Amino acid sequence: MTAPRTSNIPWPSTTPQAYLSRRYHLCASHRLHSEAYTVEQNQSTYGKCNNPHGHGHNYVIEITVGGPVDATTGMVCDLGELEAFAQTNLLDRFDQMNLNMLDTFRDVVSTTENFTIEIHRVFAGFSGAKLTRVRVEETSNNSFEYTGRMQFQKG
Ligand code: NI
Repeated sequence: MTAPRTSNIPWPSTTPQAYLSRRYHLCASHRLHSEAYTVEQNQSTYGKCNNPHGHGHNYVIEITVGGPVDATTGMVCDLGELEAFAQTNLLDRFDQMNLNMLDTFRDVVSTTENFTIEIHRVFAGFSGAKLTRVRVEETSNNSFEYTGRMQFQKG
């Protein structure tokens, strides 16, 4: 009896996958306020962040993209491409803005959780590499992350 012939199909070649993170700084103001809540509920939920005049943050945005390291360039993606994308779609859009005045936050509370999710939505459109994670530092003590993961909700 002869052993079955092994396939002539070669093993797929593999290449290392790496991640690139880049930090951006922007200043913006916001006011935490939900239209679904009464004045009292807004105050008890958001405290001083519900102040009608809003307040500002120096946000630090960290974008992580990943992909195979190109055998020729040795890079995950062209950093210049990422910079141009971030300038147009992140900094030009949000820096020095009142987040509450933007269409994005017309019906969505401008918490940093929701800001992080919005930035993720924006960078999902970057074609140079696959977006892995968005991390936003709101203060030196608070930071938020979103990886695109969805979860079923009760009710
Ligand atoms: Ni705030």
